Amino acid sequence: MVRVMSGIQPTGALHIGNYLGALQNWVRLQGEYEAFFAVVDLHALTIRPEPETLRRAIREIAIGILAAGVDPDRATLFVQSQVPGHAELMWILSCFTPLGDLNRMTQFKDKSTQLPELVNAGLFTYPILQAADILVYRAERVPVGEDQEQHLELAREIVRRFNGLYGATFPEPMPVRSTAPRVLGIDGEAKMSKSKGNEIGLFETEQETWEKLRVAKTDPQRLRRQDPGRPEVCNIFSYHGYFSDAATCAQVDRECRTAAIGCVDCKKLLARNLEAVKGPIRERALALRADPGRLDQILGDGAARASRVAEETMAMVRERIGLPKAGAGHG
Ligand code: TRP
Repeated sequence: MVRVMSGIQPTGALHIGNYLGALQNWVRLQGEYEAFFAVVDLHALTIRPEPETLRRAIREIAIGILAAGVDPDRATLFVQSQVPGHAELMWILSCFTPLGDLNRMTQFKDKSTQLPELVNAGLFTYPILQAADILVYRAERVPVGEDQEQHLELAREIVRRFNGLYGATFPEPMPVRSTAPRVLGIDGEAKMSKSKGNEIGLFETEQETWEKLRVAKTDPQRLRRQDPGRPEVCNIFSYHGYFSDAATCAQVDRECRTAAIGCVDCKKLLARNLEAVKGPIRERALALRADPGRLDQILGDGAARASRVAEETMAMVRERIGLPKAGAGHG
C-alpha cells in the first residue's frame, strides 16, 4: 500500500478550517493508503509555547484528530517528538539543503516580517524538519494545503539531491490536494486561523457558533433583506458548500438570488448543518478527554509503530552516508 504522511501543529484549538482542510481528508485517506499522521510538536517549538500550554495542546490536537474520525486501527497516529528519527534525519538532510533554497521559502519570509521577535534558526530550518517527517517514512503522498506546496517541493529537491548522491533511497513525495483548499474565516477575507481571530472552533457549542455566524460577513452588496444576494461572493454560501448537501445548496442559491430568504435564514440553515457535523465530533472529544489512559495507549502504540518504520529508514540512511549503526555497538 502506498504510504501517506501528514502532520498538524499543536498550536491553538482546532477549527473548522483544520477540519475541512486537513482532518476530513485524513479520514478519507486512511482507507486508501498506509497512513502516518503526526502531531508535530517539534515544529510548534518554533513559537516557544509555555510547557503547560504545549502539553495540553498536544493532547487536544490528538483528541481532535481521533474525534474527527481518524481510526488508530487503520492509521498510525503519533506525536512527532516521540519518534527520534524525525530530528535525526532532519540534521542529516540539513547538510544537503543549500541556504538559498531556504531563503526562498515564502512562509519564512511572511512569518519573519509578521513576528520579527520570533525569528529563530528553527523557523528557518522548519521546512527541513517537515521534509524529514515525510522522508523518514519514505512516504509517497502528502496531503497539504496550498500554503505548504513550496515546502513539499523543497522536500522533493532534497530527495533528488540525496538520491543523486547515494542512489535511490527516498521516493519523491507528491501532494494530495484537499477538497477544501482554502477555507476563509468568518470575516470572509483571510484564511481561517486562530491568530486572525476569525475561526469557528471545532469543539464550540452550537450557541457559541451561532453568535459568530449571526454577525459573519455575507454579500457586502446585500444591504437590505429585500435586496437580491450573490451567493458566488458570499462566504456563508461557501460554507454551505462544505456542510450542506447539493439540494440545499441549490435551494439556498436560488432563494438568495431572488431574496426569497434573507441572510439570517441562510445562516440558520447553515448553523443546523454545521452542528450535524460538529456535534458528534464534540461528543467524541468529550469521551476521549474523560479517558486519558486510552489516549496514552493510542499514542504509545502509534509511536511504536512509527518508530519501527523510522528506524528502518535511518538504518538505511546511516549505512549509505557512512555513519555507524545506531546504539552502542560498533561494526
Ligand atoms: N507545516 C505543516 C503545516 O503547518 C505541518 C507539517 C509538519 C506537515 N510536518 C509535516 C504537513 C509533514 C505534512 C507533512 O501545515
